[in-house]
Amino acid sequence: MSRRRAAILISGRGSNMAALITAAQDPAYPAEIALVVSNRPDATGLELAGASGIPTTVVDHTAYGRDREAFERALQAEIAARRIDIVCLAGFMRLFTPWFVGQWTGRMLNIHPALLPSFKGLDTHRRAIEAGVKIHGATVHLVVPETDAGPIIAQAAIAVRDDDTAEVLAGRVLALEHRIYPLALALLAAGRVRLVDGRCLIAGAGAPDEALIVPGA
Ligand code: GRF
Repeated sequence: MSRRRAAILISGRGSNMAALITAAQDPAYPAEIALVVSNRPDATGLELAGASGIPTTVVDHTAYGRDREAFERALQAEIAARRIDIVCLAGFMRLFTPWFVGQWTGRMLNIHPALLPSFKGLDTHRRAIEAGVKIHGATVHLVVPETDAGPIIAQAAIAVRDDDTAEVLAGRVLALEHRIYPLALALLAAGRVRLVDGRCLIAGAGAPDEALIVPGA
């Protein structure tokens, strides 16, 4: 089967983008990264993508003022020109209109640095610490019009430590993000994700038995 063509949308440093690029360098990986788009010309991830030989482009949202649909049409044109099958949001800091989301139903992924549906929105690590949760993590989900909602494909969890700061916790969660985003894209690209009653069922996937219990003994 030919590889699915994925575009990655970024706004900043692009460490999840880098994890996806690395995974897709394996010829057996079911997706290739065919385009990286940033809405910010100064996104540091652009350089890294270019150095990996991936076509990059900037669609600067500030050029469109308050006209969100005009921005999205320009974005859609760039993506369509590369015959993209799957869009991966990776630290892309713009909210979409239902029109754009509707172009990519079931074919657009997002990564969120929390165990959804907890801690939607920004500043998730500080809020998790303040809430006193013992377990925190990251989620990859299909994008729907509602922000930080949508059927979940993969999650990963770690223990929150008593002395964690938001920065330290963010670092441990980010390491998990870099594992589950390539996993989730591979599952979607390989056609192993089936939507049933609003849930993603994953064909041929095992579920580890070990429980994560916090605090440990
Ligand atoms: C990640 O924490 C991701 O979960 C969130 O934005 C951050 C992007 O980081 N959506 P990077 O640009 O991938 O390094």
